[in-house]
Amino acid sequence: MNPQKNKFEKMEEFFDLRATGYDGHMAENVNDYEVFYNSIAEPILKTESPIKLLDLGCGTGLELEYIFAKAPNADVTGIDLSQEMLDQLISKYIDKSDQIEVIRGSYLDVELLSDEYDYIISVMSLHHFLPDIKLNLYKKIWRALKPGGFYIEGDYIVSKIKEVELLADYNDRLENNEFLQEELFHLDIPFSIETQQELFDRAGFTDFELIFEGDEAGVYSVKK
Ligand SMILES: C[S@@+](CC[C@H](N)C(=O)[O-])C[C@H]1O[C@@H](n2cnc3c(N)ncnc32)[C@H](O)[C@@H]1O
Repeated sequence: MNPQKNKFEKMEEFFDLRATGYDGHMAENVNDYEVFYNSIAEPILKTESPIKLLDLGCGTGLELEYIFAKAPNADVTGIDLSQEMLDQLISKYIDKSDQIEVIRGSYLDVELLSDEYDYIISVMSLHHFLPDIKLNLYKKIWRALKPGGFYIEGDYIVSKIKEVELLADYNDRLENNEFLQEELFHLDIPFSIETQQELFDRAGFTDFELIFEGDEAGVYSVKK
């Protein structure tokens, strides 16, 4: 990963432009691709029941293949900013269309019902937000989960030292008016596992589990 490579593109436009060819790009560029995406589904119990699952930043739905392998009748809601990414998801899972609802919008803004989902997942989507924004989102996720429900996240992770550097660089660019904080830009600021765990604790989650840790990315789950 080159964290600041695409620094000034708006998030939605960034993914709209790259939706075609996105799946192939990920298969080639995500280290341990199969292990990583398999790990997302690991906490999900094998079931034929229509469990309720929410996918934040679902994109083209790469992770859903692994979810449906565990829970073929899952009732899935996917939220994403990019219509082009959602269109890829819809055409890929045409045989599951009665089980999938997509919402085009920002998961930071879309209102979620309380105690609604058995599982909420987010894969490769949350490494663009400052700690306070992530904390508020984690609190919202906590409220939307049923008691005993799991939140599973797979994302880029960095060392604590790198995290401090990235946040300082982000703040410098913000002070220099290189981008507007009110708008969503494709700027990468992944956190360390330690920071992730601290944010989950503060949001009220328990049972943090590190399911997979690779060179650049990790998968972890927490429980409501
Ligand atoms: C790298 S892709 C990951 C897609 C998919 N989860 C995967 O693992 O292949 C990141 C996705 O998050 C979406 N995204 C980023 N910020 C978002 C936001 N605030 N609300 C909704 N979607 C967002 C992007 O549009 C993009 O489709």
